Amino acid sequence: MSSLSMDTFSSDALDQRALSMNQAWGLKQMVSSMTSITTPGTGVGTQAANLDQRHAPVRRCRTITVCGGKGGVGKTTVAVNLGMTLAMMGRETMLLDADMGLANVDVLLGLAPSRHLGHMLDGQCSLQDLLLPAPHGLTVIPAGSGTRRLAQMGNTEQAAVIRAFDELPQPPEFLLVDTAAGISDSVAMFAAAADDVVLVVCDEPASITDAYALAKVLRRDFGVKRFHMVANMVRNLGEAKALHQKLARVTDRFLDVMLDFMGWVPQDERLRQAIRRQCAVVDAAPGSRSAQAFKLLAGAADTWAEPDRPGLDRIAFFSGQAAPATGW
Ligand SMILES: Nc1ncnc2c1ncn2[C@@H]1O[C@H](COP(=O)(O)OP(=O)(O)O)[C@@H](O)[C@H]1O
Ligand SMILES: [Mg+2]
Repeated sequence: MSSLSMDTFSSDALDQRALSMNQAWGLKQMVSSMTSITTPGTGVGTQAANLDQRHAPVRRCRTITVCGGKGGVGKTTVAVNLGMTLAMMGRETMLLDADMGLANVDVLLGLAPSRHLGHMLDGQCSLQDLLLPAPHGLTVIPAGSGTRRLAQMGNTEQAAVIRAFDELPQPPEFLLVDTAAGISDSVAMFAAAADDVVLVVCDEPASITDAYALAKVLRRDFGVKRFHMVANMVRNLGEAKALHQKLARVTDRFLDVMLDFMGWVPQDERLRQAIRRQCAVVDAAPGSRSAQAFKLLAGAADTWAEPDRPGLDRIAFFSGQAAPATGW
């Protein structure tokens, strides 16, 4: 891991390789767009509509990667419920499952995708073909489970996944990214590509040390300076704040990062019940304590200050949005 740096992901060569990986799909698209121009009844109108789209103001998307280092701390639970709460608030939200090879966002939501990111990388479909509707208007982008092809995905292919979002005709308002456990290049790259990084931590020594290790790698090798901490499976606000202080004590002392307290989610049996029924708790039990907590977390994310988008010096989601925002 330590041999990687931001430069590893910023070279033109990497971009070029990522682009050429999409060539198969690009070619198909080119052919189909040529067909649409020559097909009677779709010619001028389609072109005019495309032109209008090009000139329409492009909406900005806030990208949030959910990670935590340790497995089983609630990363997927937070990503799914935060995403669905934002969708329920009327925010157009996408959730990318980036736990490559052991993806389970679709399982948590009882979805049955027929295609996943592997198909896109093999040129068999576009990102748009993968968009899977989930309850309350949330859109899921599934990754395969038990797929060595995805589990062994390299940096070039990850760059291609991130770049694929630039092809969406209209970005959503929020893109959430659920990541794998550990401090692999995969996790780090998806975190570094987002505007904001949420660290999910629970009150166990291994969770705290793993979250610290991840923050250290992201700061040292990828230049990530700001983290939002969610205390999961705690009993009350006091316990959540104490957990934040434990982690902040070490990050303040040894890393030059900002670790803000985003909020907390209680240990909640109704959340477990919802998981067993393959539903998000915010959907299955909106009055539950955990669902209420997710509302507060979504409210917080909705009001975060405009991100400091480094944009151009590394691979980022919606890199075309690197220019200063005109407001959220
Ligand atoms: N707030 C919570 N209350 C009760 N159980 C929880 C909570 N958050 C997570 N869990 C339990 O922890 C398990 C692992 O959560 P998950 O989100 O899959 O973790 P990760 O993605 O970090 O590996 C869930 O299946 C659920 O049983
Ligand atoms: Mg997970």
